[in-house]
Amino acid sequence: MNPSLEGNILNRVFAEHNAGVWAMFVHKGSPRLMVTPAYNAWYLVRFGQAVTEHSIRELLPELNRALRSYRKDKVTCRYEDGVLEVPRVKPARLDLTDTALGGLSEYDMLLGAHYTPPRPRRVKVNLLDPYVGHIMVAGTTRIAGKTTLKRVAISTLALNTSPDRLHMVMIDLKGVGMSPFKHLPHIRGWASDHEEAGRLIRGVAKELQRRVEAESTDSTKLILVIDELADLINFRALNDLFQEHFPTIATRGAEMGIHLIVGAQNPSRLSLGAQLRTQMGIKLVGHVEDATIAKSLTGREGTGAHLLPGMGSFIYINGGDSPIRIQGYYLADVNLMVDRIRQKWGDVKLPPLVGADRKNRKFSRRDWETDLQAARPVFGANWKWVPGSSGIGGELKEGGKKAIIEAVFGKGADTGGSNNKRANEIIEHLTAEKEREVLYAEAR
Ligand SMILES: Nc1ncnc2c1ncn2[C@@H]1O[C@H](COP(=O)(O)OP(=O)(O)O)[C@@H](O)[C@H]1O
Ligand SMILES: [Mg+2]
Repeated sequence: MNPSLEGNILNRVFAEHNAGVWAMFVHKGSPRLMVTPAYNAWYLVRFGQAVTEHSIRELLPELNRALRSYRKDKVTCRYEDGVLEVPRVKPARLDLTDTALGGLSEYDMLLGAHYTPPRPRRVKVNLLDPYVGHIMVAGTTRIAGKTTLKRVAISTLALNTSPDRLHMVMIDLKGVGMSPFKHLPHIRGWASDHEEAGRLIRGVAKELQRRVEAESTDSTKLILVIDELADLINFRALNDLFQEHFPTIATRGAEMGIHLIVGAQNPSRLSLGAQLRTQMGIKLVGHVEDATIAKSLTGREGTGAHLLPGMGSFIYINGGDSPIRIQGYYLADVNLMVDRIRQKWGDVKLPPLVGADRKNRKFSRRDWETDLQAARPVFGANWKWVPGSSGIGGELKEGGKKAIIEAVFGKGADTGGSNNKRANEIIEHLTAEKEREVLYAEAR
């Protein structure tokens, strides 16, 4: 698409509505602005008497319509800070090049680049800065680019910080987003099932308690990464556990060197939503569904998060500062990056944060796997899909739970007490497994 032709279209709409503004294309390398890889940016020169931000925003639907009829494709323009962003037909990526990676310090996390005036610059945060605390990345799944942004942040952090000074534990119940990091030298715990996730949350809470009691000035930071909070909250037992420990980790964690990096599609829907929003020093809000969600996640009007095109476009909110619009870096080959990090720090093997729990037989890994294996076919035979408005869902047929208990504990086993509890855990786990299958089938 020819930007100057599109400029004529934009300016025609402004003229027809006596808008009192003129759109000027901002060229790459301009001293004031730089065209982003995903956008054509237009600087709006105002010459009208009564031109307000509001009157420009009101014209957005008109501008979208005009561009749409030219491109024969849907266009969503976004206006903020005197700049009109028009998505490119073929958005280019902002690759995480060696130049972008240069000159970073210990505990730095690179996020993206910021293109509004006065000049483009890298946006990074440093875990030592007191305002940082915890980091939340929100936005519509498969559109926003939350996982990609977290991968960039975690890679740059691990690349610049020695495993002596940085430990990480990760919960990734879909087993996809964070799995390339499983073999980072900094890893002290990894969970892709809810059993292990529970142990890690408890382990982090215990480590915090230990640091508080020892009035520890432990300079080794411990990061808990949760790729998608909703996956965790969907399990009742994990939800309860997270609700129990989150407030303390959120309020006392950072000063004790324990930080959260949490991805969440739409935290405002979660019961913890409000707390999450207030406790997270750094918030990154990508594409969301509507202006109401945008407001509730960013805590302010008019950020236009619902007009973001996804693919790494985020509103970056750092404490009480004004929101900044950023484009996240794109990491094309995360495995290559992991190799690079491993080469840099060598073969370090950190002790796991939580050892195998021998006292509690019920929670030993082998038993859990054995129980799951015994239950899986019976679960499958007793499971039926229930078509519903929420997309995925299903339930156990009558008598399904009893059949599972018998498969695990033997014929005629007690269906109450601890057997019942175990069956519930198994059902939760296998339900999630089913849902995952459906999600992946959909994604393909
Ligand atoms: N910074 C980026 N630049 C370009 N494309 C991106 C970027 N981040 C994500 N994407 C693309 O957007 C889609 C969703 O990304 P993903 O990180 O999986 O999002 P989420 O975790 O929010 O579901 C993917 O197709 C991904 O390739
Ligand atoms: Mg994701």
